[in-house]
Amino acid sequence: MPGDLKFPENFLWGTATSPTQVEGHVANEWTDYVAADGGHCRVACDHYHRYEEDVGWMTQLGVNAYRMGIEWSRLQSAPFAPLNQKELGRYIHLLDCLKAANITPMVVLHHFSNPPWISAAGGWLNPGAIPAFVDYAAKLSSALKDRVYLWNTFNEPDTYASLTYLLGGFPPFHKWRFASYRKVIKHMAGAHTQASRVIRNNKSARAPEVGIAKNWTWFESFQKFALWDHLLAGLSHHAFNRFVLDEFLGGARREASTFLGVNYYGRARLNHFQALVPTNNVLPEKLEALGIVSDDMFERHPTGFGKLLKTFHRRYGLPIYITEHGAASRDQDFRIRDLTAHLLELHAAISHGVDVRGFFYWSLLDNFEWQFGYTKKFGLLSVDFGDEKLPRKMTRVGEFYRGICKSRETAA
Ligand code: NOJ
Repeated sequence: MPGDLKFPENFLWGTATSPTQVEGHVANEWTDYVAADGGHCRVACDHYHRYEEDVGWMTQLGVNAYRMGIEWSRLQSAPFAPLNQKELGRYIHLLDCLKAANITPMVVLHHFSNPPWISAAGGWLNPGAIPAFVDYAAKLSSALKDRVYLWNTFNEPDTYASLTYLLGGFPPFHKWRFASYRKVIKHMAGAHTQASRVIRNNKSARAPEVGIAKNWTWFESFQKFALWDHLLAGLSHHAFNRFVLDEFLGGARREASTFLGVNYYGRARLNHFQALVPTNNVLPEKLEALGIVSDDMFERHPTGFGKLLKTFHRRYGLPIYITEHGAASRDQDFRIRDLTAHLLELHAAISHGVDVRGFFYWSLLDNFEWQFGYTKKFGLLSVDFGDEKLPRKMTRVGEFYRGICKSRETAA
């Protein structure tokens, strides 16, 4: 059991959310979007009004860290505008509630959403997004420097750029625009480098730490001798993993990051060009018949987690935070098994010398899962979206995670 394993002292045991997925009342490119299940993000979990209650739930879980986004569209109404003081005040109050609860925040600046004026100007295809983002990062980090030292500039730039311009899943829903995909990654990498500089210039008692959160998917051929699937897996790996990491961390650009955030969910194996994962509409019965273990989104691949951590450690030598891991399923036993398997891999990697400093379970709450709406259940707390009071309830995986967080508390 992970509760019996020794993790480093001061390890962060956290959980994570993002503004569009939990806050509600956002005015960004997702506001009018209706997901496959008819759900939208206009109210979501109403975390915007209920953050105090949600911090109370975090205390019950026993977490000592929270990875949260700050919604850019709330803070700036135009490029280079002063920060909206009312909205800033609300986030400051949330940060103060976290502090009172002994919970360390990690703040994400960009999690799949943009202010409307960024979208109207062509989004991240427009190089003008770079100075606008850097200005936002400078103003926000200066305002919050005494409250926040962990900064995550971009969440999963690869997911964002591919779903906006290759796969048509995120606004503006374009497909197969490879040049646009590359351009978005390049612009975001440039913005990360510059933002890191301004954030780190805002000195405070504790030196700021800055990094991105890289999503990692293993791409493999399902069949051993299917040349075409090996080829497609190689191309996918190059486009979504290598190219992105090179843009953000290659050569001198590595200096822009003090840590590497890793979002890890698993694997996509290809069979006749088809990814064998539920998000690609492959039926659970078919996956089961092929011997593929998956949650409601991706194939699970815990051993790949340990392997990845060792590779990152060797290649970049940066401290690592697991900025996201979780499983979407209504089967709590499955989720507990999944978490156990991944924590065992994490522990083994740390024992092997990999410098991992924290783990953030995705997610605190069941929430708005982008194109899939409310059908994917990732929460440590379930939310009843059928009840307008949106009641939260501890899940069994939440209780299991609490056991892990609490045993760390007594060990420290
Ligand atoms: C990664 C994304 O950052 C998050 O927004 C999403 O909900 C989870 N993966 C699960 O798909």
